[in-house]
Amino acid sequence: MAAPTAPTAPQPEILAAFEAAKGFMPVDEGLALYGAAVEAAALGLPLLEVGTYCGRSTILLADAARAAGVMAVTVDHHRGSEEQQPGWEYHDPTVVDPEVGRMDTLPAFRRTLHAAGLEEQVIALVGRSPQAAAVWAAPVGLVFIDGGHTDEHATADYEGWAPHLAPGGLLVIHDVFADPADGGQAPYRIYRRALESGAFTEVATRGSLHVLRRTGAGL
Ligand SMILES: C[S@@+](CC[C@H](N)C(=O)[O-])C[C@H]1O[C@@H](n2cnc3c(N)ncnc32)[C@H](O)[C@@H]1O
Repeated sequence: MAAPTAPTAPQPEILAAFEAAKGFMPVDEGLALYGAAVEAAALGLPLLEVGTYCGRSTILLADAARAAGVMAVTVDHHRGSEEQQPGWEYHDPTVVDPEVGRMDTLPAFRRTLHAAGLEEQVIALVGRSPQAAAVWAAPVGLVFIDGGHTDEHATADYEGWAPHLAPGGLLVIHDVFADPADGGQAPYRIYRRALESGAFTEVATRGSLHVLRRTGAGL
């Protein structure tokens, strides 16, 4: 009998949890991320996310990980990116810690995972992405970059995590906009850099979400 294949779309309750979670990712991009996560999880290696925020995209990685018996790992300092700070376009005052006076998305993230029934499937690294990448030593099956959108942060995420990607693993980059009129260029620049390195081949695109496979060594 053939082995059962993992579903390419999440179960309705997982999709509902994704839609209910705070975050910015539209459903169509979420479905593309989920498809990549299901495929990458078949490598039997952890799935790594940079940029947890309140756990919206983490739900999809965690569900795909659960089906394959691997873990999802998600990294965030939970203090928010530049564009999420007070006075900026993506600020949400409900995720400010009134005692500290700074953003803290960790409680919302934990509520999101609890509501989705996925707490057991996720390791949350609370800290800065480059520092986490520097102490990380295991190969991963997927790297999803959705952290800080400045050149400094996007470049550090790429340089820190892409080398941990196993051969055949998937590099997924969010908010890739070729036209500056559509959004910031830092994710686009690391996307171009990955392709031009010769180490990656593009396998899928949905909206601003691009999926590349590691097909070479020269990072
Ligand atoms: C766009 S949000 C992530 C959205 C999330 N992936 C989703 O779909 O719901 C970016 C997140 O990256 C985090 N971040 C930005 N720069 C970071 C860094 N250098 N290290 C760790 N986290 C960072 C911010 O705190 C923020 O929560």
